[in-house]
Amino acid sequence: MMLIKLGGSVITDKSQYRRFDKEAVSRLCREIARSGRQTVVVHGAGSFGHILAKRHSIQNGYSSKEQIPAVAMIQHDVRELSSMVVAELLEAGIPAVSVPPGSCFVMDDGKLVIGDEEPIRSLLKIGIMPVLFGDVVMDRKKGFGICSGDQAMEALAKMLKPEKAVFVSDIDGLFTADPKKDPDAKLIPEVTEEAMERVSIEQSVDDVTGGVAGKMKEMLDMSKNGMDCVLINGSVPGNLQSLLEGKEIRCTVARAQR
Ligand code: IPE
Repeated sequence: MMLIKLGGSVITDKSQYRRFDKEAVSRLCREIARSGRQTVVVHGAGSFGHILAKRHSIQNGYSSKEQIPAVAMIQHDVRELSSMVVAELLEAGIPAVSVPPGSCFVMDDGKLVIGDEEPIRSLLKIGIMPVLFGDVVMDRKKGFGICSGDQAMEALAKMLKPEKAVFVSDIDGLFTADPKKDPDAKLIPEVTEEAMERVSIEQSVDDVTGGVAGKMKEMLDMSKNGMDCVLINGSVPGNLQSLLEGKEIRCTVARAQR
């Protein structure tokens, strides 16, 4: 089984509030279906989550009651986004259902806790893909917080032991510097703990869950459990399908010492 995260930067326009990229999502869902691989899809929030989350400091937890309407609004927005992603999976012939982390689970000081695995396992058993996503989730210590799609990936990887975890973004992988600013930036095909220390941490986009270098650190941590974590560019048509079919593509693989 392959675990796939469709990043918010590929499924939405991150600079415009609630702008869904139907064309990209439809293509990616068809690529998944055509690969014939068993997959579980997680997705990010993009502009359906980050813009309001940042404005109201949702990632830092509860600080004032003024945040509450924003908490509910973000949950509403990411559920709408998830419905649109699931609609494209269904259209591509993949039975799928949204499993909103904020409605099904809690967090404990920023860490997602999946208390009961039965709903997810039962869906998979019957042949329906459970789709988790970046959401606002109630937190035992902080009141609430942001559960990123990456955290959902980590929890699902522990539970389902996939062959690979694939992070679909709008960049080819991790670079030695920010490729949007530095023409000498080079793609790093394989990341180890040691290589990570040489990477510029400037490669961050304006979001509340921490940029490319932060993502790569999480991927390295995840890969300690024995599976490769791959960052690929989903804006390039055919890339996801090729990777799922086991072909070589331009990407960054995170592989921790095991
Ligand atoms: C963020 O999830 C969730 C919210 C802001 C509510 P992600 O961090 O996984 O989203 P993307 O992929 O960066 O957009």
